[in-house]
Amino acid sequence: MPRLACALPAAVLLAVAPVPSARADEAAVESLMKKSNCMKCHAVDKKKDGPAFKQIAAKYKGKADAEATLVKAVTTGPKVKIDGVEETHDSLKTKNDAEVREVVKWILAR
Ligand code: HEC
Repeated sequence: MPRLACALPAAVLLAVAPVPSARADEAAVESLMKKSNCMKCHAVDKKKDGPAFKQIAAKYKGKADAEATLVKAVTTGPKVKIDGVEETHDSLKTKNDAEVREVVKWILAR
């Protein structure tokens, strides 16, 4: 009986701990994307000049190289066509690889 009473609070802590940190990551991802002008052309569930993030997530669902492909798309400035005009795609305004991966994972999880 006393054993159970000890184990319970620990289990509760473990269960709730990931939530606040996930929210913090999400805020960091969104602020980095705003700072990098991504939202000028993208939205989560609506097509603007660029595809909706939900559309992108659907396109790459289940693809093993999704993360690597999108990391390239948002860091190497590939050419994209907007209304038939070729433009250089914007890159994230960070040099931090971990931050780039957080953004890509966020997009793929839409
Ligand atoms: C000037 C408009 C514009 C801006 C700004 C922009 N994008 Fe895009 N983005 C596009 C277009 C257009 C495409 C579609 C390219 C294609 O399908 O060939 C695209 C495609 C993508 C893709 C999918 C690539 C693929 O392989 O399917 C991702 C991911 C992406 N953008 C993320 C971002 C992020 C993150 C930012 C901010 C750093 C950003 N975009 C800023 C227009 C933009």
